[in-house]
Amino acid sequence: MNKLWAGDLHKALDSKADDFNSSIKTDSRMYSQDIRGSVAHATMLGAMGIIPKKAADEITEGLLSILDDLDSGKLQIDQTAEDIHTFIEGELTARIGEPGKMLHTARSRNDQVATDLRIYLRDQAEEISNLIKEVLKSIIKQASENEKTIMPGYTHLQRAQPISFAHHLLAYGMMFTRDLTRLQDCVKRMNQNPLGCCALAGTTYHTDRYMTAHALGFDGIMMNSLDGVSDRDYCIELLSTLSTIMMHLSRFSEEIILWASWEFKFVQLDDSFTTGSSIMPQKKNPDIAELVRGKTGRVYGDLVTILTMLKGLPLAYNKDMQEDKEAVFDAVDTVKMCLTVFAPMLSTMKAIPENMLKAAGQGFINATDLADYLTVKGMPFRTAYKITGDLVSWCMAQGITLDQVPMEKYKESSDLIEDDIYSKIDLAYCVASRTSEGGPSSDSIHKQIEYINGFIK
Ligand code: ARG
Repeated sequence: MNKLWAGDLHKALDSKADDFNSSIKTDSRMYSQDIRGSVAHATMLGAMGIIPKKAADEITEGLLSILDDLDSGKLQIDQTAEDIHTFIEGELTARIGEPGKMLHTARSRNDQVATDLRIYLRDQAEEISNLIKEVLKSIIKQASENEKTIMPGYTHLQRAQPISFAHHLLAYGMMFTRDLTRLQDCVKRMNQNPLGCCALAGTTYHTDRYMTAHALGFDGIMMNSLDGVSDRDYCIELLSTLSTIMMHLSRFSEEIILWASWEFKFVQLDDSFTTGSSIMPQKKNPDIAELVRGKTGRVYGDLVTILTMLKGLPLAYNKDMQEDKEAVFDAVDTVKMCLTVFAPMLSTMKAIPENMLKAAGQGFINATDLADYLTVKGMPFRTAYKITGDLVSWCMAQGITLDQVPMEKYKESSDLIEDDIYSKIDLAYCVASRTSEGGPSSDSIHKQIEYINGFIK
């Protein structure tokens, strides 16, 4: 396809170099953003008297007809074009003739591509936010159903203290609410208009950059033209947020995989989100969770790609920057896919409270509660800790749990222990009485759910 830039070149580009140079397979997906940007630009050129108003109107009409035809599939994108910007400008001129050649006045593909990408990514950030909200809904559903489901809380993957399954799930809810705010925060800096920075040094035409910013829904303009065309910080910020989202999904997936194993059997995944084995007929594999965990590395890789791509670039635009889109789009697509399957996998997952309770009953996770019992009765915590530790060792030797210790043995350990000890180390009581802010008590669970609900609008 014809080049826009054959100005001072006397030979056609070598066909392999031409393929190598082309980004159309990647950037085609920005066609509607590109057309939107061009309509805003042409309208501004017309309003400022830089091109005739009539030409601006014809350009707008031509661009909108291209948009319609691309949307409906009537027009196919020429895969031999250099990029989407070249294709649309070429198609416009083919359709409307001379006025089409005026569109690129006071503009360069450098500010054009930066504009398109910012518009595209801010929309993607919103889609991703909506998908995160679906995950939050699943978390709230499960948490509401499992407020009273007791499970062992872990540190070092060792049973530590009793909590509820709701409390555990809501911890992930909190992570995803932070991800939502990270996305909003990164969109604030992303949503600045680079259009009008031109190739690198602005223009001698009397353009109005605020007019295009307003038309395109930007909050402001990029204040330095060199920065405007060469900044990709917004890609890095978005990818770092997406990496964090994946890290959260991956940790959650890892736990789901463990919980679904025969060793734990805390949950059962719905058949619609598990796969079988081609050889072992009994198998129910948590492939979806495993793939989410597996795809996390690829999003981290995309972040590193952009960071590395930028680290040695002199100002302003360099062709290296064309590589940004492959990485950013891959990350966006991957995160969207993962969130899309994760939300229903989570909401259809069945908790198995009996197994969680059984696990909670072993491992002496109410030992802290016994020590606290003695401390409340006036014993220094360190002494109480020692006595409890000795009792735990004794229980282990006997093969019993703390609630099976006979009263005589308790009395031998400390006079302060009375009959009420059995109710005070009951697991449900241990969870309910952890009433400190942010703990697993019902009050706290309700507050957490309400807080997360505030994000799902
Ligand atoms: N396809 C290019 C990109 O994605 C568009 C900008 C081209 N600019 C240039 N000076 N060659 O970066």
